[in-house]
Amino acid sequence: MELYYFSATGNTLSTARMLADELGGCKLIPIASLSKTGTIHVTDDAVGFLYPIYYGDMPYIIRSTVSRMEFDGEPYIFGVCTYRGYMGPSGLRLHDLLSKRGQKLSLYQGLSMPGNSRESTAEHVRESLAAQPGNVKAIADRIRRRESEEYTGELPEPSPVGNGAVNFRGMTADETCIGCGTCVSVCPMDNIRLVNSHAEIGPNCLTCLACFHWCPAEAIYMSQSDVGQRRPKYHHPNVTLADIIAEKQQ
Ligand SMILES: Cc1cc2nc3c(=O)[nH]c(=O)nc-3n(C[C@H](O)[C@H](O)[C@H](O)COP(=O)(O)O)c2cc1C
Ligand code: SF4
Ligand code: SF4
Repeated sequence: MELYYFSATGNTLSTARMLADELGGCKLIPIASLSKTGTIHVTDDAVGFLYPIYYGDMPYIIRSTVSRMEFDGEPYIFGVCTYRGYMGPSGLRLHDLLSKRGQKLSLYQGLSMPGNSRESTAEHVRESLAAQPGNVKAIADRIRRRESEEYTGELPEPSPVGNGAVNFRGMTADETCIGCGTCVSVCPMDNIRLVNSHAEIGPNCLTCLACFHWCPAEAIYMSQSDVGQRRPKYHHPNVTLADIIAEKQQ
């Protein structure tokens, strides 16, 4: 089984790892490592997509990756999203994308996890992390049984950020940047470069917040954001900076 995943602060990566442990024999494929791959050939007979929810929908990087996929035959395909409180029509979105590739989405499940954009309450952080292993086990059971559901309904147009990469939150590094390059290493879009030892963030942004949460100097902020401009930093307790950097390299 192949698990394609994207994760900026580790909620989805830890979920993918737990699912792989439950199901056994899974290959984890970080979507951030596929940015320079043209057509992606999928040959396995069971395939999962795991990703966070952005603005009630699927992140652009998932849309652009699935759109480049060609599948052998008709694999069993499922999706798992992690989100704070609202996952919107993201299942329908995945179903729609797969239909255009001649495939069917069989199962879609959401997992409530700590928010990395708007903050979760301390209680939600504690409870969602505690519930994660049990929730993943329940999803694994459904996948093992090859459960299938129908995904139909009205699908709205994706938001501008769901349709492309745009720095609409104004990700910016302030004068406290120490030029360490961590943000360059974690950015899945290669959208950050060091100029005179200062991080310059370009327009090609997913708003994934990896740079924001992993910067050791907390120098990155959201200059255009209404909420959370400098919110406390978050990452999943079982995921390290090295894990996120490795997503681009595999
Ligand atoms: C730009 C952005 C937008 C988000 N929008 C939503 C949302 O609409 N609904 C929601 O429940 N969570 C939302 N979240 C929270 C994430 O989906 C959630 O924290 C997720 O588990 C993060 O996954 P990761 O740690 O694997 O990156 C958003 C996060 C980001 C960065
Ligand atoms: S991670 Fe932070 S301190 Fe390091 S280069 Fe980027 S903005 Fe500067
Ligand atoms: S600039 Fe920051 S928020 Fe934008 S894609 Fe890169 S890591 Fe994510």
